Amino acid sequence: MLKRSLAAVLASSVLAAAQAPSTTYRTIPSLTPQIDAAPSLVPAIYDPTAPNAQAICPGYKASNVVNTTQGFTADLTIAGPACSAYGNDIADLTLAVEYQAKQRLSVKIYPRHLAPHNTSLYILPAFLTPEPSGDGSTTAATSDLSFTWSNEPSFQFKVSRVSNGEEIFSTYGYKIVFEDQFLELVTNMVKDYNVYGLAENIHDFRLGNNFTQTFYAADSGNPIDGNLYGTHPFYVETRYKDGASSLSHGVYARNAHGQEWLLRNRTITYRTIGGSFDLYFLSGPKPTDVIAQYQNGIVGLPALQMYWTFGFHQCRWGYENWTVLQEVVDGYANAGIQLEVIWNDIDYMNQYRDFTNGELNYPVGPGQEFLARLHAAGQHYVPIIDSNIYAENPSNASDAYEPFQRGAAMGAFIRNPGTGDFYYGDNWPGFSVWTDFLVPQGQEFWTYECSDWHSRIPYDGIWIDLSEASSFCVGSCGDGRLDQNPVHPPFKLPGEYLNVDYEFPEAFNITNATEASSLSAASASQSSANAAISTPAIVTTTQARTLPTPGVRNLDFPPYALNNLFDGHALVKNSIAPNATHNDALNTTEYEMHNLYGHQISNATYHALLQVFPGRRPFTVGRSTFAGSGNFTSHWGGDNNSKWGSMYLAIAQMFTFAMAGIPMFGVDTCGFSHNTDMELCARWMEMDAFMPFYRNHNVFASVAQEAYRWGSVAEATRRVMNIRYSLLTYMYTLFYYAHNEGETVMRALQWEFPDDASLAAVDNQFMLGPSLLITPVLQPLVTTVKGVFPGVAEGTIWYDYYTLQPLDVAAGENKTLDAPLEHINVHIRGGSILPMQVPGNTTETTKNNPYELTIALDKDGAATGSLYLDDGVSIAPNATKLIHLSYASDTLTTSLSGSYHSAAPLANITIAGVPSLPSGIDLSIAGQPCEAAAVTLVHGAGVLYLSGLEEFTPGGAWEGEMVLRFSF
Ligand code: NOJ
Repeated sequence: MLKRSLAAVLASSVLAAAQAPSTTYRTIPSLTPQIDAAPSLVPAIYDPTAPNAQAICPGYKASNVVNTTQGFTADLTIAGPACSAYGNDIADLTLAVEYQAKQRLSVKIYPRHLAPHNTSLYILPAFLTPEPSGDGSTTAATSDLSFTWSNEPSFQFKVSRVSNGEEIFSTYGYKIVFEDQFLELVTNMVKDYNVYGLAENIHDFRLGNNFTQTFYAADSGNPIDGNLYGTHPFYVETRYKDGASSLSHGVYARNAHGQEWLLRNRTITYRTIGGSFDLYFLSGPKPTDVIAQYQNGIVGLPALQMYWTFGFHQCRWGYENWTVLQEVVDGYANAGIQLEVIWNDIDYMNQYRDFTNGELNYPVGPGQEFLARLHAAGQHYVPIIDSNIYAENPSNASDAYEPFQRGAAMGAFIRNPGTGDFYYGDNWPGFSVWTDFLVPQGQEFWTYECSDWHSRIPYDGIWIDLSEASSFCVGSCGDGRLDQNPVHPPFKLPGEYLNVDYEFPEAFNITNATEASSLSAASASQSSANAAISTPAIVTTTQARTLPTPGVRNLDFPPYALNNLFDGHALVKNSIAPNATHNDALNTTEYEMHNLYGHQISNATYHALLQVFPGRRPFTVGRSTFAGSGNFTSHWGGDNNSKWGSMYLAIAQMFTFAMAGIPMFGVDTCGFSHNTDMELCARWMEMDAFMPFYRNHNVFASVAQEAYRWGSVAEATRRVMNIRYSLLTYMYTLFYYAHNEGETVMRALQWEFPDDASLAAVDNQFMLGPSLLITPVLQPLVTTVKGVFPGVAEGTIWYDYYTLQPLDVAAGENKTLDAPLEHINVHIRGGSILPMQVPGNTTETTKNNPYELTIALDKDGAATGSLYLDDGVSIAPNATKLIHLSYASDTLTTSLSGSYHSAAPLANITIAGVPSLPSGIDLSIAGQPCEAAAVTLVHGAGVLYLSGLEEFTPGGAWEGEMVLRFSF
């Protein structure tokens, strides 16, 4: 222990001497790793002695059926002696079945006699996440879905699709288990089922039938198959019929408690450690219908983002001062690569304290000058805010920290039930508290701090980190020790390692050996540091399982041990402990709120930003999310690795967030933990240019990975960035439809071609909207890539984005494509009209540049597209415009609705799939014929190019409806 502290101190001083003075390095006392030690548990899914609730519990019998307007209720009464599998059985339950809408059936099972939000059986209130109700008219007779049940041998139910009688969910043969700390139901599944979703996971897109999804928010890097930041208990299942069609349905279980979904051979078992069964079944029948029904009907539609947020973002942990930030901004400009947003990690803070600036490295005055320059250039700034608030040292007046004082005076922090005082955990700054967003003073405090800091540092959005909520010690470890503050976390920070190198990507030694040998001072990641902490084994049963106590819940060590991925698996590890208590009238505990902390802090930040920027869409990016978080926040994938595998898994992670209603998603481009290299970074910059949230970010002390650091990465980025910027208006239009109708932005091939069973598991390619298919290179040392091109048997044409030549591909072929390092394969689906603009240096300049249309004709010579315009910032814009574009019978027509004025003219139209040069054209705008002689027409290789159109739309491309007819 002493050795560890000394090493940390030594590392601190060595590094402090070697670098410019930085608030990152402090010779302060290190906490012992034992402060994060907890008893080791055996997760129930691996515990051979764990009770099998299905074998020992009695189940329930239904009686007293009462019809309601849209369904019925019944009593469920325990059918035998209590089993106490992992808690105290609840004998009397209510079943409520409601045909809420044609496509949505709700099934609730909850305690009959207890007040609904009684904290011992906390039932998720609607103010935390939407709870839909019936439409007032659907009944069993008009629903797509039917509900049947039986009492033999005990209560069991089925949800079936009326049209064909298939059972989409069936507990037949299994019991309902309902205890105060354990709920379980089991559904029968078809063989080799196709189930997707259950975000957040780092896993293949098709989840398979040998997978356990644990939901317990964790500050845990990107562990494959382990619990991490978000909880979205929603899945879509697709069943293919005869190889030629499919039907999909969805299941959402509205419950925020720690929970597990066990996907097994012919069943899915759903277990939670509290709350109620609050199930919603969605009839689809296409996967995208299910996703829209989930967003539209249940959790709410995603927030529309500001136009500038679709530009490119650069971040890293370790930007030492404003000068370095300026160098990065200049680096992009000098390399001719668009940079829209520069970010700051915790480096800017004074000793890692939220809402402060380090006096030496990030002083306010020069910061204001930097931000004025940045804003004048049309660029933006997004800093991090951590979820913890430093608790000042009461014995050291010079340690005063005003945000803590203000929050404490308001009673705005979560409490330790043992002392009644605040709960003092540990995070980067030392012993810390957490804001309580269940009481109004929590929001008040947060809004004040966000506004007050903005008056000094005019940021443009906020990055919310560590919102699981992460704490580096077990329990309220700061109790009685605040006078030691500030303390150093109980592990080494990245950069404090003396002898450990970060790893490089898999093929680095082959391609970049010299670069590797020049890097000796890099260090291992924060996650390795956490993993290195050992915990003593303290057991309560032979398998360290606690036993239920009549009438009492064990919050910190519930009898059902979740497979929480930290060493020892205890829930008290690396997070605020479950017994930490809120200030609301119910004294709700973190046991109930844990998976909601990130959801709440993002919501509070959204509301704070509404005050800071009245009328403007708040931009927040949060780490921990819950069902419905997309209403107010976006999300990044967290601490991934600079590994090819991590890049590949980002695609499936992105799909699951599209399903969850958080389309503004992206991952740390080029990888977060460890060192990236030139090849990986080039390929990753290329791929993420097609993800909505496009941000390059990496860990402290790893090699720099801005796109301009290597010639090939810079060149690859320049090329792909110009594509991204020219498609901004297409991407923004996709967001309009996501925000209004629950459509997806990034799409799995399976969603666009739901009847093709061969696409069920494709997660190495993706689509951006309906029109663009992206085939990224996901492995090192190759110059080709393979991809599939759906729909060819039905006549779909895929055009190469760059040459506009139709791809020569057979139906079902896994086609090999050329993929030199600086190139990413993008194909346009025949039948699409892509609205585009000449790419500028920023999103704003691009927005004002001339429009272009790229039309890719289908086999019938037709295509459609649309374009949405507004001011790009307002929550309720004064004016909007929606333009429908359509091409058929050699004629392009536009139809317009709305009054938003875009002054940019339409310059060019390019049409792929035109066999010859037309002999004439007729153009009319707003019903007025135009003299089209000035239009330049060029034809070659099946592509028709029209230019010189600007003069016909000098006042703006979309002011009058256009008809453009070609004669041949
Ligand atoms: C964890 C975040 O996931 C990561 O992106 C960030 O760089 C570090 N915290 C430091 O703030």
